[in-house]
Amino acid sequence: MTHPQPNPRWDEVDSYLTDLLVPADEALTAALADSAAAGLPEIAVAPNQGKLLNLLAQVQGARRILEIGTLGGYSTIWLARALPADGRLISLEYEPRHAEVARANLARAGLADRVEVRTGPALDSLPRLAEEGAGPFDLVFVDADKANNPHYVAWALKLSRPGTLLVVDNVVRGGRVATEDPADPAITGTRAMFDLVAREPRLDATAIQTVGSKGHDGLLVARVTN
Ligand code: SAH
Ligand code: DHB
Ligand code: MG
Repeated sequence: MTHPQPNPRWDEVDSYLTDLLVPADEALTAALADSAAAGLPEIAVAPNQGKLLNLLAQVQGARRILEIGTLGGYSTIWLARALPADGRLISLEYEPRHAEVARANLARAGLADRVEVRTGPALDSLPRLAEEGAGPFDLVFVDADKANNPHYVAWALKLSRPGTLLVVDNVVRGGRVATEDPADPAITGTRAMFDLVAREPRLDATAIQTVGSKGHDGLLVARVTN
């Protein structure tokens, strides 16, 4: 939305679809505004992507959700809104400043009772979640540092059950994922993640490219098999 797109129609169409199907509300608008005011990078999922996460969590009947990469809690709000009153979402965030903004945004959205934002490197928090017996999660959304994507997917599997849904954001990156690029750890990490998913018999997966207000990117969606 804030960056010039290779094709201006991508923004036009996203606005058209979002105006019709994804009406803005106070909590979501304020979450983005306060995230920007606090100087957080403007890389949250687009509104129509947030709504997709919400719908996937609803279809999944999710009661426990794990998110890796909170930022200001925009995707977190979309996901947590799909939870029943006694549902729970844990979101992992490296930057204390991001976590603080997210907690305020979640409280304003009326979701503080259902959501816990844990600060620290996700690769430290994930083993602790396993030790605590926090899983299995019904849905895991991976959207943090892309270099660690294979590790995040491996942990998501450990914290899953048959039927768990796994969603990974930003798996296409302008198409760069299709070409090996040893100099870019985000591409190396995402390709290693795809190799792992392709080899993993416990995951039934697809990935789609997307264009829109966030440019050309894509999502991996996978289900843990029975
Ligand atoms: N899911 C958010 C966007 C997340 S942006 C949304 O769509 O609204 C990616 C986030 O991952 C950033 O806030 C970044 O600080 C965080 N991050 C980066 N490295 C991390 C790590 N090692 N562990 C946990 N979070 C990390
Ligand atoms: C970046 C990260 C994201 O999670 C995203 O959705 C878009 C961009 C980034 O690190 O550039
Ligand atoms: Mg993302």
